[in-house]
Amino acid sequence: MTSPSLSGGACGLALVDPEKRRITERTENIVALYVVAVTGASGAIYGLRIIGELLKRGDDVDLIISPSGFLILKEEAGLDLRGRGGGGGGSVAAGIRSCLEEPRGRGKRGKGKRPVLKGRLNFFPSDDLTASCASGSAGVEAMVVCPCSMGTLARIASGASTNLIERAADCALKEKRTLVVVPRETPLNTIHLENMLRLGRAGAAIVPAMPAFYNRPAAIDDMVDFMAGKVLDMLGLENSLYKRWKK
Ligand SMILES: Cc1cc2nc3c(=O)[nH]c(=O)nc-3n(C[C@H](O)[C@H](O)[C@H](O)COP(=O)(O)O)c2cc1C
Repeated sequence: MTSPSLSGGACGLALVDPEKRRITERTENIVALYVVAVTGASGAIYGLRIIGELLKRGDDVDLIISPSGFLILKEEAGLDLRGRGGGGGGSVAAGIRSCLEEPRGRGKRGKGKRPVLKGRLNFFPSDDLTASCASGSAGVEAMVVCPCSMGTLARIASGASTNLIERAADCALKEKRTLVVVPRETPLNTIHLENMLRLGRAGAAIVPAMPAFYNRPAAIDDMVDFMAGKVLDMLGLENSLYKRWKK
């Protein structure tokens, strides 16, 4: 599977809506590329679920994890990937992939099934400002920051671009691509709220990690699926990850 080059080949150009700079048509053999960043807020499991869903669809994912994101992945998901980071992106991606390929045993959906991940997962260290997604010209469909710490939120809102996560998000905003930010913190101070407002005004979709209960979640998995489904909705990707109201 290959990703379309939105900046180059005729194939890619034909797919781009010049108004929105987003892929408007998809064919079986065209793969979209999403950037997903996992930062040091609680809720790494949401990010993992989103990555898994994109890969299941057959889309490719460029993954960036902040140093604090690695810490949270270890604390919350038992994924100790830090030693792998130094040895090259391949081993971080392999670690995430094997975690995502584990059969899910709980929740209403996917009981015991081993997910088939068709897309490619590429890991980039957060200090690698030479990565393709550090440029607005990269053929990226959309970016998701999930979970998003208040620190990363503030730096994206300020346009600081001090690392690859902030720079890729800056590129998404300047190129008018979809940027979905999933902040997690409670309670929120006015600095957090103002940063969210600023980002929302700049065009980002703010999707706070706030699972609902009207769908009667029976397990944590259902709550995670709800949030992942909400993010996929914002990306314009059809999904049945959560039970929609009155459906
Ligand atoms: C266990 C743990 C949980 C945390 N949860 C949150 C959180 O939910 N939201 C948040 O904004 N920061 C949280 N933090 C703090 C961030 O990890 C910290 O501010 C970090 O500098 C963020 O860096 P990053 O934005 O580069 O990932 C948490 C830290 C730890 C150790």
